[in-house]
Amino acid sequence: MNPIEQFKQDVEQSIDALGEDMDLQAFSRIWLRQIALRKYSHNFRWMGRPIIQVPQDMVAMQELIWEIKPDLIIETGIAHGGSLIMNASMLAFLDMCDAIESGATLNPRESKRKVLGIDIDIRAYNREAIEAHPMASRIQMIQGSSIAPEIVEQVQQVAKGYECILVCLDSNHTHAHVLAELQAYASLTSVRSYCVVFDTIIEDMPADMFPDRPWGPGDSPKTAVWEYLKSHPEFEIDQGIQHKLLITVAPDGYLKRVS
Ligand SMILES: C[S@@+](CC[C@H](N)C(=O)[O-])C[C@H]1O[C@@H](n2cnc3c(N)ncnc32)[C@H](O)[C@@H]1O
Repeated sequence: MNPIEQFKQDVEQSIDALGEDMDLQAFSRIWLRQIALRKYSHNFRWMGRPIIQVPQDMVAMQELIWEIKPDLIIETGIAHGGSLIMNASMLAFLDMCDAIESGATLNPRESKRKVLGIDIDIRAYNREAIEAHPMASRIQMIQGSSIAPEIVEQVQQVAKGYECILVCLDSNHTHAHVLAELQAYASLTSVRSYCVVFDTIIEDMPADMFPDRPWGPGDSPKTAVWEYLKSHPEFEIDQGIQHKLLITVAPDGYLKRVS
């Protein structure tokens, strides 16, 4: 076997072993619980904008975007804009790679690749910073509830102009809201692409961890995913991603569209 194939096979075996390592998985859950108490996911920035994610999931997004090469990323939940900027910057890399391959001149303002963000409350200072960012030309924002019919309609209209779509859900984390988002947006996910549901980890946290939130174990993004998958065999949980990450806020949340 050539060394590249050998390395790939070794990595796959090691990821399978992580999936069976209940001790490591338990340690990872404990670690995630303790860092959540310290708001660890607020500590990071992407090209200067605060991003509310753990670094492992950022790397997973990079791997997915490189593999899928989407022309549209739909995201619910903007906050400070870090994830919008991160995803837009990865689309910029894809454009740069296309230009290198084809020898064409790179003009970011003519790029079709775009990130569409939806948030019920885009604070003025966040909007200003996102619109002033070098990645801004690749970003479109819509303000409103992600499950309001008029917002869903606007997103569907935008999506019509694109061929390869990746979806990320990271807004209100109640079961009912995430299930409604899945019903509204998951079908826009292209075959072989992903619908990533963040904060499914809430289901694995202690019941008293979210006293001031409407969500918690039993009423979380993960319960919404499980409910949605009962009648949507076109999606499968990509277990390999959560096994390799170990530290992820999206266990059972990396949904691959298989048909
Ligand atoms: C966890 S933050 C998003 C973090 C962001 N994706 C990141 O990685 O930096 C959640 C966001 O969801 C928004 N949100 C809450 N309810 C919403 C709703 N019904 N529709 C759309 N956005 C909502 C909040 O305003 C907040 O900005």
